[in-house]
Amino acid sequence: MKTVLITGCSSGYGLETARHFHAQGWTVIAAMRTPREDVLPRSDRLRVVALDVTRPESIAAALEASGPIDVLVNNAGIGLMGAFEVTPMTTVREVFETNTFGVMAMTQAALPGFRARRSGVIVNVTSSATLAPMPLVAVYTASKTAIEGFTASLAFELEEFNVRVKLVQPGYGPSTSFTSNGGARMQGLIPEAYAPFAQRIFASLGQPSAVTQASDVAEVVWRAANDASGQLRFPAGPDAVALARST
Ligand SMILES: NC(=O)c1ccc[n+]([C@@H]2O[C@H](COP(=O)([O-])OP(=O)(O)OC[C@H]3O[C@@H](n4cnc5c(N)ncnc54)[C@H](OP(=O)(O)O)[C@@H]3O)[C@@H](O)[C@H]2O)c1
Repeated sequence: MKTVLITGCSSGYGLETARHFHAQGWTVIAAMRTPREDVLPRSDRLRVVALDVTRPESIAAALEASGPIDVLVNNAGIGLMGAFEVTPMTTVREVFETNTFGVMAMTQAALPGFRARRSGVIVNVTSSATLAPMPLVAVYTASKTAIEGFTASLAFELEEFNVRVKLVQPGYGPSTSFTSNGGARMQGLIPEAYAPFAQRIFASLGQPSAVTQASDVAEVVWRAANDASGQLRFPAGPDAVALARST
C-alpha cells in the first residue's frame, strides 16, 4: 500500500486530492496549516498533520510525523491579483515564500528518504498561468513559473536515483477558497489609473468559457503520481487542457 503526503489539504484542490488518493486505496497524510479532521473521511489510512510550508521547523516535524512516503504533492499555494506597480515587495516575498520557496523546502526535506530508497515521486502543482501570460497576475505567475523551471531541471539529477518529478497545471477554479483566501492580500492593488483596464479583465473573468473543478485536479495529480512515461507537464481542467493545446 502506497503513502502520499499532500500539502494544503484544508480546502480546494488539495482536499479533493486527499479524498481521491484515499478512495484509490492509498494511505494519505493530509497536511494543513490548521489541522481539521472533520473535512476528510474517518479512516485508519488517513492522517492529518500540521504543516506550514514557510516554516522549516514545521516542515521537519511534519516529515518526521509522516514516516516514509512514496509521493509528495506540493499543492499548498496562495494567489495574488493586482497591478504590479503598487504591489508591496513584502507581498511579493510572501507569495514566493509559499508558492516557490515552500515547494523547494518541502522537496529538499523529502529527497533524502526518496534517494535512500531509490524510489519516489514529487508532484508540484503550478498553474495554467504558466502556459500563457494572463493579465494582473505577474507576481503569482513568476512564483509558479519558477517552479516549472526548477522541476524541469531537477528531473535530470533525480533520474539517477529513480525519483520522478511532475508538474500539474490546474486551470481557473472559482469553486475553491483561492480567491477568498487571497482577499486581504489583494486589497488596494488596483489603483485608479489601472481601474478601467482591471474592470475589463474582471468582466471577462466573470464569464469564463470553461473552468476547472477540484475533481479534475485530483484525477490529474493521481495520474501524474502514477505516470511512468516520463511526461513532465500535466494540465488539469478543460480550460488548462485547451490552453496547453493552443500553445
Ligand atoms: N483555484 C484556482 O483558480 C487555481 C488555479 C491554478 C492553480 N491553483 C493552485 O492550486 C493550489 C491549490 O489552490 P486552491 O485553488 O485549492 O486554493 P485554496 O482552496 O485556497 O487552497 C490552498 C491551500 O493551501 C494552503 N496554504 C496556503 N499557505 C500555506 C502555507 N504557508 N503552508 C501550508 N499550507 C498553505 C491553504 O491553507 P489555509 O486554509 O491554512 O490557508 C489551503 O489548504 C495552489 O497551489 C494554487 O496556486 C489554483
